[in-house]
Amino acid sequence: SRMSLDNCKKVAAYKAVDDFVRDGSKVGIGSGSTIKYAVDRIKELGLKNVICVPTSFQSTQLIVEAGLELSDLSRTPELDITIDGADEVDKDFNLIKGGGGCQLQEKIVAYSSKKLIIVADYTKESTELGENWKKGIPIEVVPMAYVPVMKKLESSSFGLSPKLRMAVNKAGPVVTDNGNFIIDAQFSKPLSNIPQLAIDIKMIPGVVETGLFVNMTKTAYFGQTDGTCKLKS
Ligand code: A5P
Repeated sequence: SRMSLDNCKKVAAYKAVDDFVRDGSKVGIGSGSTIKYAVDRIKELGLKNVICVPTSFQSTQLIVEAGLELSDLSRTPELDITIDGADEVDKDFNLIKGGGGCQLQEKIVAYSSKKLIIVADYTKESTELGENWKKGIPIEVVPMAYVPVMKKLESSSFGLSPKLRMAVNKAGPVVTDNGNFIIDAQFSKPLSNIPQLAIDIKMIPGVVETGLFVNMTKTAYFGQTDGTCKLKS
């Protein structure tokens, strides 16, 4: 029978935990709707001395609610793995992340890990970025810089269509866990040279981090509607 999207997320997260988390593992815990199943699975397996470093307020809450050991990069600067979701994964393992607004801490924690393992439902797997994810590249910016950063992104040197991400149930912009704003930079034609684009966006003064993750992972689990899990590695 066809499984719900939530079940696809669960299948991927469970498999990744079963394959990579062991007694004593130091694990970065990503953010989003898929990672909660990974936390559930770590708890369910009853592994000993697993140390968890969160990537957001949400992730901290998941770790605490599961009764797992919470740490941070000051006490645990070298992680064995980070498990995290993604908004899109392309054929070359370029990622778009930050649909949930947490890409800055996610990238820092992933960079502190020997491996980044992506867990996602099948809708996140694409050949080219933008094929399935239509909201653009999430870019975290210092609030006072958001207008000049948006102007630069829409100039001919980038040709993107930036939108300030607005809050729901509150008048005004989304404010990240780090007190910054998020610009979603949409694109209509396929991105060329994603590694260079990631550098060029990051070089705009006021940009704190982009949701383009380049060369950070070689392993992604995609839960399928038939209940199986597809490993791309
Ligand atoms: C959080 O900001 C994101 O980077 C998430 O990791 C990403 O959006 C995937 O989220 P889901 O697991 O909800 O698809």
